Amino acid sequence: MSDKAILSLDGKKFEFDLFTGSENERCIDITHLRKETGYITMDQGFGNTGSCFSDITFVDGAKGILRYRGYPIEELAEKATFVETAYLILYGELPSADKLRNFSNSLREHAPLHTNLKHHFEGLPSDAPPMAILSAMLNMVSCFHPEVLDVHTKGAGFDRTAALLLSKVRTIAAWAYRMAVGKPFNHPNPNFSYCSNFLHMMFSEPYQEYIPSPVVEKALNLFLVLHADHEQNCSTSTVRVVGSSRANLFSSVSAGVCALWGPLHGGANSAVIQMLEEIKESGRPLTDYIKMAKAKNNTFRLMGFGHRVYKNFDPRSLILKKAVDEVLHELNMEDPLLDIARELEEKTLQDDYFKERNLYPNVDFYSGILLRAIGIPLNMYPVMFAIGRMPGWIANWHELHAHKQRISRPRQIYTGSNTRSYKPIEER
Ligand code: SDX
Repeated sequence: MSDKAILSLDGKKFEFDLFTGSENERCIDITHLRKETGYITMDQGFGNTGSCFSDITFVDGAKGILRYRGYPIEELAEKATFVETAYLILYGELPSADKLRNFSNSLREHAPLHTNLKHHFEGLPSDAPPMAILSAMLNMVSCFHPEVLDVHTKGAGFDRTAALLLSKVRTIAAWAYRMAVGKPFNHPNPNFSYCSNFLHMMFSEPYQEYIPSPVVEKALNLFLVLHADHEQNCSTSTVRVVGSSRANLFSSVSAGVCALWGPLHGGANSAVIQMLEEIKESGRPLTDYIKMAKAKNNTFRLMGFGHRVYKNFDPRSLILKKAVDEVLHELNMEDPLLDIARELEEKTLQDDYFKERNLYPNVDFYSGILLRAIGIPLNMYPVMFAIGRMPGWIANWHELHAHKQRISRPRQIYTGSNTRSYKPIEER
């Protein structure tokens, strides 16, 4: 295998180093391309462009493989808690019993929000989008913890800042929901686990504390484990771009929330449910929707299908599909949307348009049905994705600092007007 790429350009030959990763992925290092050739590359959407070297997550889209720090997602989904998985993603190793206890205690300690933050929630309209609240409040929280604004030098240190963020994102999310439904805020209960505490803050009432069933707690745990990281997706890349200017961790993940909100990314989980509900209400045959999704003359797409990297099944959708069955069975529930989802998947698997484009269900296709089953309201689905993805965002932000990564500043090819002179208004 060659160790150099040779580029023949304008009658000259240029050599570029090749790099092979630990899973035999290969890249051409074009760090000096512009200086040596005067050319830049163009790769809109960055489908062929690596932005960093990373030890955190490995995805093999052709084989449907996803591993966090080398551990297969199937094993973590079955055996690990979200807190264990978050520790693994942050620190690179599964925690010992002592380390897990200390980490859990730190999460417990940092769950409450500063009491003055309540006024900011109370000033919001009840129909404010939870993702807008989450992004704003993540920055707001840092106003009450100035020490986290400069983690790496005089700040609180990475461990405390990461735990503070991982814990408080849950409380912010629950308070956004309580504000939207006009109910009093629930304070975190230090006796509860990470997931139970979130569900308590969401659903406990003054007259009735919410204690989730083991089935519901396990389902939420699984959802968060499956969303914990996914290499350089749109929102994680956003966190890295913002963090590359040495912006603090809170503002970087706040930007990540905004990127995740889009329906092509983390907003897809609620868009899938809206699509399935529309199909159910319309009574129209599924083939109508499949035809619309294939037509070039409209923007309709089958939400929850397709992926930039997975050109085979998204392993997370396989795990979620099985989990949805189990949870609905154990909760003795039925969901007509699940039947529609299954039929839609079956039909697309036999359709050349989807097969030729390797369009399979992604993580968002079944995740919404799981969230429905455990009682999470639809407008909170992207927020649940953000809570799950928080360990990945924090770890990527930390890694870019550890690697002393340069500020992200892509180039462009200008296609606008050539030089021209200012004209007085009477001559325009
Ligand atoms: C997530 O990157 C990550 O890792 C993301 C994520 C994570 O964990 O962080 O995995 C989470 O964001 C999953 C994706 C959730 N989004 C959706 O479900 C929205 C629906 N999917 C699409 O919009 C699309 O598939 C994307 C955004 C996921 C991927 O877009 P790409 O890679 O830019 O692909 P594309 O738009 O260039 O599509 C290629 C072809 C096109 O047809 P042609 O022009 O070749 O004829 O496939 C078609 C597209 O029209 N296509 C679809 C389709 N998705 C792609 N056609 C119908 N329905 C779809 N869903």
